[in-house]
Amino acid sequence: VIAAELGDALVPRRDLAESPTAQLESRVEAMRREGVRIYRLGVGEPTFRPPRHVTEGAIRAIVDHRDGYTDTGGTWSLREAIANRLQADIGVPYSPVDVIATTGAKHALLQALIVLCEAGDEVLLPVPYWVSFPEQIRLAGAQPMLVSPAQGVKVTPTDLARLTSTRTRGLILNSPANPTGAVYTSKELLEIASFCADSGLWVISDEVYSAWVYPPERHTSIAALPAMSRRTIVVGSTSKTYGLAGWRLGYAAGPVSVISAMVRLQSHTTSNPSTIAQYAGEIALRGPQGRSARHAREYQECVAWVLAEIGGSGRLRCDDPPGAGIFIWLDASGALGRRVGGRIVHGADDLAEALLEAAHVAIVPGTRFGSGQHLRISVAAPRNEVAEGVQRLLSAVG
Ligand SMILES: Cc1ncc(COP(=O)(O)O)c(C=O)c1O
Repeated sequence: VIAAELGDALVPRRDLAESPTAQLESRVEAMRREGVRIYRLGVGEPTFRPPRHVTEGAIRAIVDHRDGYTDTGGTWSLREAIANRLQADIGVPYSPVDVIATTGAKHALLQALIVLCEAGDEVLLPVPYWVSFPEQIRLAGAQPMLVSPAQGVKVTPTDLARLTSTRTRGLILNSPANPTGAVYTSKELLEIASFCADSGLWVISDEVYSAWVYPPERHTSIAALPAMSRRTIVVGSTSKTYGLAGWRLGYAAGPVSVISAMVRLQSHTTSNPSTIAQYAGEIALRGPQGRSARHAREYQECVAWVLAEIGGSGRLRCDDPPGAGIFIWLDASGALGRRVGGRIVHGADDLAEALLEAAHVAIVPGTRFGSGQHLRISVAAPRNEVAEGVQRLLSAVG
């Protein structure tokens, strides 16, 4: 009765869209409960197991009753492990006070945006973008300024300059990128760094896929470029690199003023990330790192196979093959306006829906990454599932 009287007033934050990958997963789960076999090329979650020494360390922490609250920003020794790993991987000498451990990289990104932005600020966001960035920028009270590259899938200072004004607070950079798998080279980053320094911009550098770069590409962090560590917040995660997605442990590193503001914010939101996940994450970060290169090789092989299959199809194209990660950004415009699974599909949403209904393949439409004519495939699924899913996709689009 009250709902009927109050109507829309009772709908909390109508402007906030659910993550489409989370939405797709709920849909897939519902179809699975009805007994439908679904081929999942949607989510970006690794299927490999976390290293055994990591899970054993977590079990030890539980048994030893090391399960209370910790410092809000994470245990000192975890923050030291994160600082050491970043020093080894990207060459920036952080100390534990420059680091915060968070409940996944997602929470690090949101908190960085909240402490950096004020109402009316604008944040430059290259297109295509990871689905949560625009919503997170809005949650921080700022406005996403969508920057489309003049060419390909990487932005240049010229692209950024077009949308930069006195209201611009910063730039979100995601290299390696989700959804394109693009990797910015050192030269490209130097140009962007100099633009950001000249324009007085912060950079939030999301590097959660940095472990899966295919040689000869190499991961460079913009924070490692001259004078950039003082204006960059690097965000990383244990979700992808170590297969710990459900454990929810991410981190950020940057100027102590920003990090301590994030710690203060975190003290009112989640408090410390899960204590057991912190012990597990520390073991992962301090331990051998060789598995990442193996995973990158496996993903690269799988991506190459998918691209070869798709290349022959005519209807789907990948103009900018990925240099990293698990994602393939497919131009599906050749399939739009055609019949897929018994209906004419008019856009990426429609196409993804038809593929799920008719071919039982779960793929995320590009719409929520900023393109109504792309699909994003994830190869982070068992190899036979990828193979069957891709064949079903190809036969559905003809
Ligand atoms: C680009 C990007 N950033 C951040 C995240 C979030 O990672 P986490 O699981 O650590 O919250 C994801 C997850 O899909 C991602 O693709």
